[in-house]
Amino acid sequence: MTTLRTVPFNLSDDVREQTIGNLQSWLPSLIGLTLRLKQAHWNLRGVRFKSVHEQLDEILADARDAVDDVAERIVTLGGAADGVPSTVSSYAGFGPFPAGLLSVETAIDTICSDLAAVVRDGRRHIGSIGEVDPVSEDLAIGIVGAVEKHHWMLHSQREAD
Ligand SMILES: [Fe+2]
Repeated sequence: MTTLRTVPFNLSDDVREQTIGNLQSWLPSLIGLTLRLKQAHWNLRGVRFKSVHEQLDEILADARDAVDDVAERIVTLGGAADGVPSTVSSYAGFGPFPAGLLSVETAIDTICSDLAAVVRDGRRHIGSIGEVDPVSEDLAIGIVGAVEKHHWMLHSQREAD
């Protein structure tokens, strides 16, 4: 970790380092999700194209807000956010993205699996952050709740389970 900038909050350096570390660990998956959402949005094919195409952009809007909120929380706490491509590509929690055009069902399955990965990571980080910084925990809880709802709404577009 690089040296923390001094901030006028009553948070110890240990607390800030732990919180920033957790938020930074989550950031690549959130940024990766935004890229994969656009990949699916562009290459979608099928009879429900319009509704799923638009739904993917609705998820994207929330995912981009989440990226900005997490990155800016890191800097607020005196750290520096790292969202460069090499850091984003180091995240190994997503499966390979199907090449080329995507059927609606494949796009839904791929993005639902991505959303679930982001939630799993987020819930793990909430546990660690919650022990030290409830304000960052609140941010993470809000993001996870929104991603879980998007998972439900997208999964409900499947023809069958
Ligand atoms: Fe578009």
